[in-house]
Amino acid sequence: MEIKACIFDLDGVIVDTAKYHFVAWREIARELGFEFTEEHNERLKGVSRMRSLEILLEVGGITLDQQTKERLAERKNKDYLSYILQMTPDEILPRAKDFLLELRQHNVKIALGSASKNAMVILNRLQIAHLFDAVIDGTKVTKAKPDPEIFLKGAEELHIPPENCVVFEDAEAGIEAAIAAKMKCVGIGSRKILGKANLVIPGFVDFSFQKLNELK
Ligand code: G6P
Ligand code: MG
Repeated sequence: MEIKACIFDLDGVIVDTAKYHFVAWREIARELGFEFTEEHNERLKGVSRMRSLEILLEVGGITLDQQTKERLAERKNKDYLSYILQMTPDEILPRAKDFLLELRQHNVKIALGSASKNAMVILNRLQIAHLFDAVIDGTKVTKAKPDPEIFLKGAEELHIPPENCVVFEDAEAGIEAAIAAKMKCVGIGSRKILGKANLVIPGFVDFSFQKLNELK
């Protein structure tokens, strides 16, 4: 199998935005009168904005009508945006940018496959948007991971068959989406959670194109 393209999740793979999602959601929970912890926040990784709110409400044991939910999700996003608009390029996770540059040197195509509707804002803040040949974000898909739609669209925009693509993911649902797309996948994080991936690494430090090729 020749590796012709790599498709990257954003949150938890290229940058740690989970901490900003957390403070913004915690504020909403406080206003609703309950504590939302970092442990609860784990459940929101890789999950869409509205589904995140639903999980949060489940934690607080609260039921709200659709209109109120939409208003809260919008408010959370305003808060979240105020944090990410302050981000700087030094928040890229260690060696992630070097790895992207190394892929480009080897003529491997690069796509983003993130559920976030704020993905472009983040790539621009990090000054790495130009390194991506295609960006598939939450504005372009209708089905959430573990559905393979997001990664299949990435492969399609790159004009590379799925079997020549490798996905980088930190969420279990993302690994499942990659498998469903018939792509190879590298888990970023712990083997306990990402055991279904072809390879699990803690991050891009000590990783290289050469090591990626061992996946073949
Ligand atoms: C990523 C994150 C989730 C987040 C989702 C939607 O998948 O891991 O925590 O809820 O994107 O992000 P958005 O920026 O559109 O609210
Ligand atoms: Mg992620």
